[in-house]
This record gives sequence, structure tokens and C-alpha cells, in this order.
Amino acid sequence: MNFYITTPIYYTNDIPHIGHAYTTIACDILARFNKLSNNDVFFLSGTDEHGQKVEKAAKVAEIDTKIFVDKLSLNFKKLIPFLGCEIDDFIRTTEERHIKSAQALWNKLIDNDQIYLSTYEGWYSVRDEAFYHENELKKTDGKLVTDNGSPVEWVKEESYFFKLSNWEKKLIEFYENNPDNISPKSRYNEVLSFIKSGLKDLSISRTTFKWGVPVPNNNKHVMYVWIDALCNYLSAIGYPDKNNLNYKKYWPATHIVGKDILRFHAVYWPAFLMAAELEPPKKIFAHGWWTNEGQKISKSLGNVIDPYDIIHDYGLDQIRFFLFREVPFGNDGDFSKKAISKRVNADLSNNYGNLIQRILTFIVKNCNSSLKSTNNFSNQDNDLLNILNLKFKDYSNYMNNQQIDKSIKSIMELLSSTNAYVDEQAPWSLKKTDQERMKVVLFLVSIIIIKSTLMLFPIIPKSSKKVLSFFNLDTNNLTFDKYDDIIKKDININVPDPIFPRID
Ligand code: MSP
Repeated sequence: MNFYITTPIYYTNDIPHIGHAYTTIACDILARFNKLSNNDVFFLSGTDEHGQKVEKAAKVAEIDTKIFVDKLSLNFKKLIPFLGCEIDDFIRTTEERHIKSAQALWNKLIDNDQIYLSTYEGWYSVRDEAFYHENELKKTDGKLVTDNGSPVEWVKEESYFFKLSNWEKKLIEFYENNPDNISPKSRYNEVLSFIKSGLKDLSISRTTFKWGVPVPNNNKHVMYVWIDALCNYLSAIGYPDKNNLNYKKYWPATHIVGKDILRFHAVYWPAFLMAAELEPPKKIFAHGWWTNEGQKISKSLGNVIDPYDIIHDYGLDQIRFFLFREVPFGNDGDFSKKAISKRVNADLSNNYGNLIQRILTFIVKNCNSSLKSTNNFSNQDNDLLNILNLKFKDYSNYMNNQQIDKSIKSIMELLSSTNAYVDEQAPWSLKKTDQERMKVVLFLVSIIIIKSTLMLFPIIPKSSKKVLSFFNLDTNNLTFDKYDDIIKKDININVPDPIFPRID
């Protein structure tokens, strides 16, 4: 199976923070899980560099806009490997390949009679780069603002419009026939009721600034930043060249987005695509937002979490694990130092790290670092193997539905059962009474450690590789099926380094 996964493209008007890191790591986890499952994966990220917001930020910084975006885009690009993420391409909306593709999409919409020229008059938020109806706004300190507090201004200008209203029925039909296309369920319901409340034609060009993709055949206009931005998902795989191998292989995509940008992805984007006779996205998953120690994260409050700082303080895998174990993926979450320590200590240090440490050092000391492969299993052993199979199935189902937190929980349950099994079987006592049985127990626990380490690999890739190296296993091009060969072979162990020390 082919699997195309995308992050939103990040605005080049500010430096990256934990919210951006969160979306990228989520995609990395799903990409790695798919690779382990033998799927052909294409993982895309990039930067959204046009629009009034970016232009204004460059003006404030007194830097030429192109030089400004070059610099800010690089910050996002550099962050990706620092987060332990491995992407296949990084697209920038100022690249020629993207501009060509966005213009080709525009021309296709013109050819299909989906765009007309008229006048736009209404409320516009520069911060959100979005248009609002009066009934979506509220008054704060005498000023009209959006639900999330963004100020709006009254705009009147000539504009091209996309015939979004034509797509209302088709979108409803599409979503009613494909209820899993948007997750979580609450977000699906939200989108469907928004569409059912009526769609108006959408203004898709601006004349009040120049920093954007020029509209073909009318250089007074630049494209509205969302049609430009959404098109990145196509331009990176070669659209409009439908013979491009990547386009053929990977479209349609799975888009992971924050809840704030769901409407653009789940309403405008499939409508643009259908209007251009292209397939709508395979899946759109909207995640929640992080707060910091109970407070909304904002620059003005001075509580923005720098991913570099937090990873420096706690470790990369510890942070990756915390972000996706702590909070159901899709819900909002609160970032607190106490919560990180509690989570890392309970799950990674105790449940996982201690098991590895005590079993592996025991094998090194008492079995000359090696064990023969065996399947001479008792009923109790088979019970544990059944738990392994069951938990692996749950884990895979959850991952395939982007329920990352639940899939991690399945691994933790498997490890808890394994720890209980070790206590019950007590290999340290068997050492005196039945050394053959002791070796079977140790072999079984070793293969469960290996399998759970493979299962943890998407979430904590660096530490998982380290654990596999304790078993002298090849850590390149890991797949779940390699496990079947591993368990047929003898096990040879290196003295393990300590892993996941407790956080005080
Ligand atoms: N440029 C648009 C996306 C265009 S995609 C065709 C954009 N960029 S953004 O840089 O503002 O946001 C990128 C992502 O970061 C969004 O998915 C957003 O939800 C996410 N987050 C920003 N702050 C966040 C938190 N505090 N918590 C979690 N995610 C947050 O929107």
C-alpha cells in the first residue's frame, strides 16, 4: 500500500514552537509505523510563505520579504531532523515548482467554470488569513474579533470568487458516504454541520498586496493565501503532471492538521479538488492544541515553548513519548513539567527500561550473554504470547486510525503483563532449580522486549535502535516481519547501557 502523509505548511512569520513540533512528530510517528508495516511512504512538510501576514512580519523586521522568508523557512526545515523526524520532501510556496502548480490548478478551475470575477465586501482577519461572516464575530473592548480573538477589518475590493456554493450538496454526499474521512468523530460532525448551514462562494484573490502567487492573466491579483497554500500537497508530487510517478503513486493524501485549520482542509480543499476533477483527500485528522501549565500559549504571555529548550531539558524521545502518550490524539493537552516527569518515570523508566535492564544484565551474568532459540513453551508462556498477539493487533488498528495514544497504551499493557510474568516465573529462583526452564523464560521475555521495541520505534526511534543494538540486531530498514526471522535465531546480548534514567 502507498501512504502519503503531510504536515500543514508552517507560516514563515515567526519561529517554530511546540505546536509546530507536535504536528510534525505526529506525522513522523504515522510515517514510521507505515514503513514498519511495509507500506511505501511519502512524508511531506514545508513552509507557507505568502500572504499579508508574512509580508507585514518582514516589514516589521525591516528585511526584504524574500530574504526574510528564506531565513524563517530554514528554521522550520532545520527543526525537523532535530525532532528525530525523517521527511521525504520539504516544499516552499515561493518555489517555482509550487507557483507553476498553483497556477495550473487555477487555470483548471477557470476551464471548468468554477471561478468568476466580482467584488468582495466583508470582514477579513489578517492574522488568520480568513474571511468571516458577521455572525461568527464577537465584540471585545469595543472591537469586532473572531472566536479565537483575531481582530478583523472591513475590506472592499475586486476579487475572484470560487463557486463554493455549488459544492455544498456534493460535499455533504461525499462525507455522508465516507464518515471516516475526517477524524475524530466530533470534528466530522462539526464540519458536516458547517457545510449544512450553507456555503457561500469564496473570495480567492486579493489586490491589496503583492506578496503571493500571481493570478494567471490578471497581474493586479494575487491568489488568496489558502488556495495557494493547500496546493502545496499537489505541487510536491508533481501536479499538474499526472504522469509524475509520485503523483500516480501517492495521491490522495492523509493530512494531519490542527483543529484551527480544519475548515480549510475539510471544506475548501476537497471542493477545490473536486472542482478540478481530482480525488479529495484520503483522510483529514484534526488534533487539539497544547496549553502551557494551564495557560493558552501566546507570545504576549511570554510562555511559548521552544522545542530546542524542552528537548535539551528532558531528551528527545522523552518529549516525543510524552506528547503522544499523555493526551488522546485529537484532544487539547496541557504541558507541565510535573506531568512529563510522572509519565516518563512510570512508563519509560519503570515499565520499559527496568524490564530491559534486569533481564539483559541477568542474561549477561548467568547465560554467558546468549540464549538458544526455543519454542518449548508452557501454558503460561503461551498465555503471554497470546497477549502479545492481541496487543499488537490493537496497536496496529489504533495506529491505522491515528489513535496514537491508544496504540502506546497497548504497548504499555503488554509490558506490564510481561513484568508480572517475570515476577511470577522468577528466573533468579529457577537458576537454582531448573536452568533449562530459566532459559525458556528469558528467551520469551527477550523476544517480547524486541517486539515491543519495534512497536515503540515510531514513537521513540533513537532509543528503540539503541535497545535493538543491545541484541546485536540490524537497525536499518526495520519492518515488523523481520521479527519473525529474529525469533528463529539465537540471541546474543551486549552489556546494556542504562536507558531512560528517572527524572527527579
Ligand atoms: N500556514 C497554515 C497552514 C497551511 S496548510 C495548507 C498554518 N500555519 S501555522 O504555522 O500557523 O500552524 C501550523 C500548525 O501548528 C497548525 O496545524 C496549528 O494547529 C499548529 N499549532 C499552532 N499552535 C499550536 C498549539 N499551541 N498546540 C498544538 N498545535 C498548534 O496554520
